[in-house]
Amino acid sequence: MKIGILGAGSIGATLARKLSGAGHDVKVANSRGPETISSDIVAAGARSVEASSVATDVDVLITSIPLSRMPGVKTLISDLPADAVIVDTSNYYPLRDGRVEALEGGMVESVWITEQLGRPVAKAWNAITAGSFEEKGREAGDAERIAIPVAADSDRDKAVAMALVEETGFDAVDAGSLADSWRQQPGAPGYCTDLTRHKLPNALAAAEKARIPQRRDIVLEAITERFPNYSDVSAEYIVRLNRAIYS
Ligand SMILES: NC(=O)c1ccc[n+]([C@@H]2O[C@H](COP(=O)([O-])OP(=O)(O)OC[C@H]3O[C@@H](n4cnc5c(N)ncnc54)[C@H](OP(=O)(O)O)[C@@H]3O)[C@@H](O)[C@H]2O)c1
Repeated sequence: MKIGILGAGSIGATLARKLSGAGHDVKVANSRGPETISSDIVAAGARSVEASSVATDVDVLITSIPLSRMPGVKTLISDLPADAVIVDTSNYYPLRDGRVEALEGGMVESVWITEQLGRPVAKAWNAITAGSFEEKGREAGDAERIAIPVAADSDRDKAVAMALVEETGFDAVDAGSLADSWRQQPGAPGYCTDLTRHKLPNALAAAEKARIPQRRDIVLEAITERFPNYSDVSAEYIVRLNRAIYS
């Protein structure tokens, strides 16, 4: 497949390496220009491009940028083919990225993104820490293989996103529609808790919408208190904390 990835940070870079390694034709863009894309992404086989061309002539566009930057993306994807699938990895952290009034009013974050882009999205890879995503991929059938929830309104979009998740080394679990995708957002029991496909469906079902914002903020405050520099926190610490607070 021809895949464009908008965002070359912790998640976008790992996606680029894994999907190139799986044989896809991958191009990657950030906001600062192709010369600033890390050389290991290019060494893995992905091409670094300008953001203005990342959506041109692709089968799939993956958006992996901070949620706060999403409103600017609509103009970048004007060349995206009509039948291309968009898969988004983002999460809503108002304490870190700023409040979005529509989301404070109860709109589901993935639904808000489809409105910002003017196109439907599938939601995937949002509910795994960057560290687990980079290091904990396993072969299909491995009993320890971690599962990743995938939500979408279109069956085709969901099937494409689930197949790509599997290719990155994780079991894909159907998490329902975008309206249901609050169940895989920060604050929910299935969010960044490294569960297998046998446990993730129960965790998604156990999510309680009213408790999510407070739990999400408690965890972010606890991490920030312990690690003033967020990049110092390990995936293991986040998973332990999430399991304790979100369950
Ligand atoms: N980190 C995690 O553990 C994790 C886990 C799951 C999901 N997520 C979600 O996935 C998304 C990416 O997370 P991350 O940790 O990879 O972020 P990150 O390390 O901060 O990287 C963000 C990337 O987005 C690029 N970017 C920002 N605005 C852009 C724009 N307008 N056009 C093009 N590129 C733009 C940045 O490029 P420049 O540096 O050039 O600006 C950078 O490459 C976020 O929504 C996050 O919530 C993160």
